[in-house]
Amino acid sequence: MSRVAVVGAGTMGSGIAQVFAQRAWDTALLDVAPELLDKARAAIRANLERQVQKGALRPEERDAVLARIRTDTKPDAAADAELVVEAATENPAVKFKIFRDLDRIAPAGAVLASNTSSISITAIAAQTRRAERVIGMHFMNPVPVMQLVEVIRGLETSDETAGRILDIARALGKTPVVVNDSPGFVSNRVLMPMINEAICCVQDGVAAPDAVDAVMKLGMNHPLGPLALADLVGLDVCLAILEVLQRDLGDDKYRPAPLLRKMVAAGRLGRKTGRGFYVYRD
Ligand code: CAA
Repeated sequence: MSRVAVVGAGTMGSGIAQVFAQRAWDTALLDVAPELLDKARAAIRANLERQVQKGALRPEERDAVLARIRTDTKPDAAADAELVVEAATENPAVKFKIFRDLDRIAPAGAVLASNTSSISITAIAAQTRRAERVIGMHFMNPVPVMQLVEVIRGLETSDETAGRILDIARALGKTPVVVNDSPGFVSNRVLMPMINEAICCVQDGVAAPDAVDAVMKLGMNHPLGPLALADLVGLDVCLAILEVLQRDLGDDKYRPAPLLRKMVAAGRLGRKTGRGFYVYRD
């Protein structure tokens, strides 16, 4: 059986672990916070249960998937992984330390992938002695549903590593798209300015959030409006990505809307805190 270790048990990490385990990978889900591991396991169980209720999954398959996921608070659990997917907090210092640790712990031939949405893969790879086996594997939220995996090649990523990750992404039932390492890659370089502009519309009194979202949903066939999507992604994450785009591309067209800064300062981070542009009661 193939072995993967997923580092970080937040929304993305738990979704990534679920997708691997559903495709028969032996999956270690790691996080320093045991309560996040419990929450992740409960979220995966609930997702699988929904599939059982719909008749898309047999109860014994649900049990087998859950049995393939072990959780651990120690990075040593990545010692037997052939692939590690890091999905920790979007903070360069945190990711750099994780990659230095993983480089020491994971087998020499293992590929180390990051689910970062904006941090340079080349800079992450430079923390290790295996830059040719470091790559970006950027899943979209919600991971079990979304088709895309944005595969990001760092400056030193080898063809062999890229080929392995493309094969794995396809085997997970996803469609990989290869891009080069550049701030925000393609996904967030295009998405975040749209979200930022939608926030500017609210800030400038052009329209209320539900009107901005209705225009984009009904007029452009977006499944979610940009403000509802910002709430899903997390306003703190949107702010962090815009700051990377502005700083690393050196262009003020990416300047985060002051209203976005204010909402993050107030702790209105979107779904995860129960309030962003909308209020979430569950
Ligand atoms: N986890 C697992 N499955 C989920 C889910 C979740 N969180 N949310 C929904 N689903 C499943 C449902 O069970 C349902 O499955 P079936 O088709 O088997 O019945 C299916 O998804 C559709 O769900 P719904 O009918 O309830 O809801 P919907 O029609 O609104 O679709 C959606 C849900 C597909 C997520 C849709 O809202 C959508 O496309 N949203 C936009 C998502 C998006 O743009 N994501 C990218 C965010 S950006 C990012 O992730 C990258 C970054 O770096 C910031």
